[in-house]
Amino acid sequence: MPVGEAVQGFSWGQAIGSSLYNRILIFVKRHSDCACKMNKSLTTLLKIVVASATLAAAGAQAQLVGDINAGLARATMCMGCHGIPDYRNSFPEIHRVPMISGQSEPYIFAALQAYQKGERRHPTMRGIAGGLSEQDMANLAAFYAQHNGHAQAPETPPRMPNAVVAGLLERGACISCHGANFSSPTDPSWPKIGGQHADYLFVAMRSYWVEESRVIGRTNPMMRSIVAQFTLQELRLMANYIATVPGELATIPPGRLPR
Ligand code: HEC
Ligand code: HEC
Repeated sequence: MPVGEAVQGFSWGQAIGSSLYNRILIFVKRHSDCACKMNKSLTTLLKIVVASATLAAAGAQAQLVGDINAGLARATMCMGCHGIPDYRNSFPEIHRVPMISGQSEPYIFAALQAYQKGERRHPTMRGIAGGLSEQDMANLAAFYAQHNGHAQAPETPPRMPNAVVAGLLERGACISCHGANFSSPTDPSWPKIGGQHADYLFVAMRSYWVEESRVIGRTNPMMRSIVAQFTLQELRLMANYIATVPGELATIPPGRLPR
């Protein structure tokens, strides 16, 4: 993968995280002839990048405090898609729109920023995020983060994956970042994915594969290097399993206000 380009698109933009990650990518490239060695080293190095990115992300949103009521008012324009259970989007292929009620507050903020900056290229969400101020984003994040009826994921998935899927999840070190239950990310600005729609999880992972397009794709370098290790079929197997894990995400129709 093009290391330089990916690092330029690093959503937090913080120097520490970026340069460390650049080194990791180069390291992974050098060792990719030995899968076992790579995975062991990858896991250790991921821990380093996780620690530095956590520090960086903590500073990013520090000045902005989200106002839940202002977020509720702004969310009227989101409800037509994110408030209708199983609502489908047809681009770039038919899939359900993601559940965002109960998603973590810093992640919602970071995702909206990534659409606005073009690091995530989905045209509908780019258009919507383009019209939001940073304060709007903080308000919407505060509103949606607690808009799930206080659902809490069990600490570990009640149904473990089969041996094939377990091997894939281990290869990608998924739980080291997304948490043992896929709903407790190491850094709060990373997504909860447990119980998310399977078709959306697949489309989202696939979008990190795309490199040269103005209308589809995502540039996050961590997920780009992760998905590069898998075939589409393997991504689909993981998406199908993660969608069955009980999570904290929900689609809540308009009219049901937070309590
Ligand atoms: C016309 C339908 C539509 C509307 C309206 C809409 N969204 Fe979205 N939203 C989508 C789709 C489709 C995606 C998935 C895009 C992708 O694949 O990156 C998405 C993705 C997102 C994500 C990323 C979720 C994740 O798990 O990464 C967030 C956050 C989000 N939307 C918030 C909002 C907010 C806040 C509003 C209102 C201000 C809004 N959306 C309005 C369709 C919509
Ligand atoms: C080094 C940390 C790290 C590892 C390891 C990791 N992820 Fe991620 N993941 C992230 C981050 C950070 C994002 C958000 C990227 C962005 O903003 O586009 C993300 C995003 C995602 C998304 C999109 C979620 C959404 O709501 O749009 C999916 C799906 C996903 N990861 C699945 C996985 C799977 C499956 C694995 C293991 C094969 C994995 N991740 C391993 C950090 C990681």
